[in-house]
Amino acid sequence: MSTFSPVIPISDSTSTTSSRPRVGGACVRQAKLQDAVHIFELVNSLSGDGTLLRRSYSEICENVRDFVIAESEAGVFLGCGALHLYGPHLAEVRSIVVKPEAKGQGAGGKLLRALLEEAEAQGVVSVCLFTRIADFFFHFGFRIADRTTLPDKIYKDCQTCPRLYACDEVAMVRGPLPKIAVLGPTKFPQQELVKLQTSVVPLQTKA
Ligand SMILES: CC(C)(COP(=O)(O)OP(=O)(O)OC[C@H]1O[C@@H](n2cnc3c(N)ncnc32)[C@H](O)[C@@H]1OP(=O)(O)O)[C@@H](O)C(=O)NCCC(=O)NCCS
Repeated sequence: MSTFSPVIPISDSTSTTSSRPRVGGACVRQAKLQDAVHIFELVNSLSGDGTLLRRSYSEICENVRDFVIAESEAGVFLGCGALHLYGPHLAEVRSIVVKPEAKGQGAGGKLLRALLEEAEAQGVVSVCLFTRIADFFFHFGFRIADRTTLPDKIYKDCQTCPRLYACDEVAMVRGPLPKIAVLGPTKFPQQELVKLQTSVVPLQTKA
């Protein structure tokens, strides 16, 4: 992920009532491999109750270029989010989370805006996610959708999810619903599949 501005300042919270530490001067930037351990720890701290999907360390390293992170002026890791590209028809916001002590000061919104900017830079107008906190995403133009309109997401994650039949998340989409899907067994018409070679190919003899 390299198309959005590398550093996006997070404006100071104007709240004077919060007892939480302020995140003043914090920024959102593209994640580096060195951030993977922080991403791994924060994301998986909320995977036990199903708030976020569990991510293995190797999966995070492999996909680290999907991630943006928020950090304080002093370089302290505050949160992260990822944009997964299914193709030009669809992207998905994943693993968006802010440390408890940094919540409510704009970091989550900045992370989400950076991911939406990246989707736009990639020419992707349909962005989806599954969540328990639809209200947060309403702020950013997402609306609730029927999950069956997102077969790519279902095929990628839901089929192997232990909560498949007890899912308490809602599907949300920003922009138009995708018209195509690229994952799943019925993605291509049969005639477009590569035909197996059934006849014996004669060996070429060297000249
Ligand atoms: C969701 C989360 C990332 C938001 O981060 P944050 O830094 O607290 O959010 P911000 O301070 O940028 O808030 C942006 C706006 O969303 C609102 N908002 C924040 N959290 C909200 C929530 N849980 N529900 C509804 N609105 C919320 C804020 O009031 C703010 O609105 P405003 O601009 O009108 O003031 C953070 O609460 C979090 O890490 N939650 C746990 C992980 C999680 O549930 N992630 C989503 C998985 S799909």
